[in-house]
Amino acid sequence: MNIQWYPGHMTKAKRAMKEDIKLIDLIIELVDARVPLSSRNPDIDDLGAGKARMVLLNKSDLADERLNGAWTEYFEALGCHVVKVNSKSGSGLKQINHVVQIACKEKIERDRRRGILNRPVRAMVVGIPNVGKSTFINSFAGKACAKTGNKPGVTKGNQWIRLNKSLELLDTPGILWPRFEDQQVGIKLALIGSINDEILNKDELAMELIRFLVKHYPNVLKERYGIETEEPFHILEEVARARSCLAKGGELDLIKASNLLIDDFRNGKLGRMTMEFPSKE
Ligand code: G4P
Repeated sequence: MNIQWYPGHMTKAKRAMKEDIKLIDLIIELVDARVPLSSRNPDIDDLGAGKARMVLLNKSDLADERLNGAWTEYFEALGCHVVKVNSKSGSGLKQINHVVQIACKEKIERDRRRGILNRPVRAMVVGIPNVGKSTFINSFAGKACAKTGNKPGVTKGNQWIRLNKSLELLDTPGILWPRFEDQQVGIKLALIGSINDEILNKDELAMELIRFLVKHYPNVLKERYGIETEEPFHILEEVARARSCLAKGGELDLIKASNLLIDDFRNGKLGRMTMEFPSKE
């Protein structure tokens, strides 16, 4: 499958992010808990060198709870402070203030030694498109103050959202670019709906999803669609039959079935699932 990536304005976005990072103490990086590796760009490690780091496992409501725990341990082992959140419902957000204080302990102590008391931690939210940055900022700040949309080139005057006396957030999130070069990353981001649908071949994508399901969540197809076979193409045909996806002449409409299957996955109707594993399983 050949996924076309969007081009060039990312250099500008990277430059803007470098400038913003100079202003902050803490990077709050959102990743998608269903694909914690594919939804991050390791460039942030260089860009954020020397800053305190927090990783939010966002959309944890859609991810496999057992693996949420494993991914938390994985990022903690890299030196990040981790919180599992659902930015849409607000679950997990309450813990963040406390974890920010722990993550920025050194800075707070350094300030205190210099006689600077009560200077708030300044933080910035970063993540790839669609990972939930605006939703997070809106729910965390408790009002509609995050700018929506992804416009990496747009000039911005930095505004700080004062969350409380010890934390300020840059109002505009930093947009990281997905790792264009890795096709597997592209497939996973396409499956979770993070890249533009129109550039994708839906039936090939559905086959990728089926192969993943057969391998890691074999009971799901049986439970939702009553499918027993393990052969991917037959599975897609069975999905089409189970969901009455028929074209005009009465033959199976596999594109429609592909769309339904992918939508069921994206909306969590197949259950909570994680597509990546901290160590090979
Ligand atoms: P971005 O700023 O990083 O680009 O992402 P944005 O906040 O626009 O969120 C992208 C989509 O992800 C939105 O869905 C949003 O509701 C959803 N989302 C964000 N956080 C969570 C979460 O923790 N759990 C779940 N289940 N969904 C989350 P959308 O379909 O674009 O909009 P809508 O249908 O919710 O209005």
